[in-house]
Amino acid sequence: MNSPSTELRESFGSRIGVIAAAAGSAIGLGNIWRFPYVTGENGGGAFLLVYLAFVIFIGVPVMLSEFVIGRRSQRNPVGAFKKLAPRTAWPLIGFIGITAAFTILAFYTTVSGWTLEYLYLSFVNGFGTAKKAELSTQFSNFVADGYRPLFWQLVFMLLTAYIVLKGIKNGIEKYTKILMPMLFLIIMLLVIRSVTLPNSYAGLVFLFKPDFSKITADVVIQALGQSFFSLSIGMGTLITYGSYINKKDQLGTTAISVSLADTLIAVLAGVAIFPAVFAFGIAPESGPSLVFITLPMIFSQMTGGQFFEIIFFILLAIAALTSTISVLEVVVAYLAEELKMSRKKATILASVSISILGILCTLSQGPLPELRIAGYSLFDALEKSSANIFLPIGGLFIVLFVGWKMKKEDVFDEITNQNTLKGRFKIIYLLIIRFAAPVAIALVFLNGLGIFGSGVEA
Ligand code: PHE
Repeated sequence: MNSPSTELRESFGSRIGVIAAAAGSAIGLGNIWRFPYVTGENGGGAFLLVYLAFVIFIGVPVMLSEFVIGRRSQRNPVGAFKKLAPRTAWPLIGFIGITAAFTILAFYTTVSGWTLEYLYLSFVNGFGTAKKAELSTQFSNFVADGYRPLFWQLVFMLLTAYIVLKGIKNGIEKYTKILMPMLFLIIMLLVIRSVTLPNSYAGLVFLFKPDFSKITADVVIQALGQSFFSLSIGMGTLITYGSYINKKDQLGTTAISVSLADTLIAVLAGVAIFPAVFAFGIAPESGPSLVFITLPMIFSQMTGGQFFEIIFFILLAIAALTSTISVLEVVVAYLAEELKMSRKKATILASVSISILGILCTLSQGPLPELRIAGYSLFDALEKSSANIFLPIGGLFIVLFVGWKMKKEDVFDEITNQNTLKGRFKIIYLLIIRFAAPVAIALVFLNGLGIFGSGVEA
């Protein structure tokens, strides 16, 4: 066997470490930046409901399936399929994952760079008494500048590469355990400030009161894409992390805890953002700039705002970092294990090549507007295609693989830790991954493509 032995593989040190690292991957800009703005663009309450349904009925089973593949095979996403289904086309799923890693990391580091700029701004002067209009001009000037965002993006990529280089236990696991609970506390503070603003009620109504007439094929696709993106599923991140999970840890409860934590943070971010959006008269469909205008407004309304602002952006940057690490780790694990590179060489090669795409992505927002694909700026194109196309397709094949290709006994063996656990839900899980999840994902797609009449306006 020319692949690394199990003993040589790093693994997480503790059960709580596993949850922290996987939750660290899941919780990130997807929850605090993307969830509020996509919810805002898709009409609020009804979107939230569809989103929650996808998390529960598709997200958790896909996550568990990734853990099963990872822990069973002890490999990166390409190697995993090679090992479990030798001489078949299944490893192609792993390559879709590698492609998704490139697209996600390219635009994700752009936005992570924005958080560093905002951290810097909160240090130098805070947002003081800034008005909505000033904040939104400030944001668009910064993004359009191109070079400043580029600088921060590269700083962020370097940080990511540094931690990936340090490995699993001493890098990823150590920090996420402390920082994730802190992030939660700060968000709670923001929630309290936001819901006590005048007219905040309208924001809660927007977020929680479903208006079913708003549900269209596009809204459903966006909800599916957002659930995959937010849970970090569909590209093999959790296959990779699954391969570092100890044999005695429970995969099912891990998948549920991680999904719960991720969803809680997203909903709390929504509760922090929307009341403020309505209180300050910001348009909920403002797009990617939403959070970067709303949050500074909330901070400027708080006693000790600058202090909380600094802590918030530090934590947001860290939440982003624990996610970028997990994406880079996929590519690095692939290069190191399949192409037999040293971890260092793999990390350098992966970060440099992803940065090239990332740089173009950042510039497409400013100095190089001609960088467009299908009418979208490169940034928007990568952002939309990764969440709404690559991840759901990856997820579809992942559940098909575990449901139909892997031996049922092997799957149950992983879920029940060699029959030492009851695995009460294993039949329901099997039914979901064999039938419900693949059919649902396929339907959402076909519907979105306009096969059933109503097309997506792309
Ligand atoms: N889930 C991360 C977030 O919400 C993003 C991510 C997507 C990370 C896919 C890994 C894989 O920010």
